[in-house]
Amino acid sequence: MGAEEITHRPLSQGSMYDRVALQLEQRGWSVTDDFLHPLLVSQLAGELQDLWSTNRFRHAGVGRGDGFRLDPGVRLDQVSWLSPDCTTGAQSIYLNALNELRQTINRSLFLGLFDFEGHFAVYPPGGYYRKHLDQFDGVGDRTLTCILYLNRDWQEEDGGQLRIYTDPGNENHYEEVLPLGGRFVTFLSARFLHEVLPGVRDRMSITGWFKRRNGGLS
Ligand code: OGA
Ligand code: MN
Repeated sequence: MGAEEITHRPLSQGSMYDRVALQLEQRGWSVTDDFLHPLLVSQLAGELQDLWSTNRFRHAGVGRGDGFRLDPGVRLDQVSWLSPDCTTGAQSIYLNALNELRQTINRSLFLGLFDFEGHFAVYPPGGYYRKHLDQFDGVGDRTLTCILYLNRDWQEEDGGQLRIYTDPGNENHYEEVLPLGGRFVTFLSARFLHEVLPGVRDRMSITGWFKRRNGGLS
């Protein structure tokens, strides 16, 4: 992706959230570098690694309720859900930032964003998540996808790009985003097919979704 696509941290946090909201309004997706201070990003990466080394990750599945299943042909990531009972300092700073963003977006886009659910995610080397939408069939409550990457010194040759299909009518139109530490990606969950390409290192993130109050129509 070109440098002009990337939003750098402006002088005030307020204008950063305004910029994300504007991009969501104009084209439905947004990429922001340095969304959080680098020390917070490395703290979150450390928390992820602690959860990993104490076996708190599970293979992610597809579908929901009775339809839930593991499908290694579709996704190979492992996840550890954020829990409201044991939110750490760094996690609450991130959740507060998301809450500010949510309020800014709700003022301008009328999406009615309400609850957030999120998890740490690890894609081991070779891991991928094939092209998909984040809304489960017939359930329209996941409205806004939010991803914060936690990878230090990630290089182009490490792979692991998030590919966002920006034109639903043309699968040759996409943008690829490297999972650089501190980079924040958000997009309308119902609108954009996307996939995670295989990488050669462990790829770490916090991925989550804002939902609508009663589950909206998709
Ligand atoms: C997901 C997903 C993208 C990424 O977890 O649903 O698409 O870049 N993640 O990690
Ligand atoms: Mn997804």
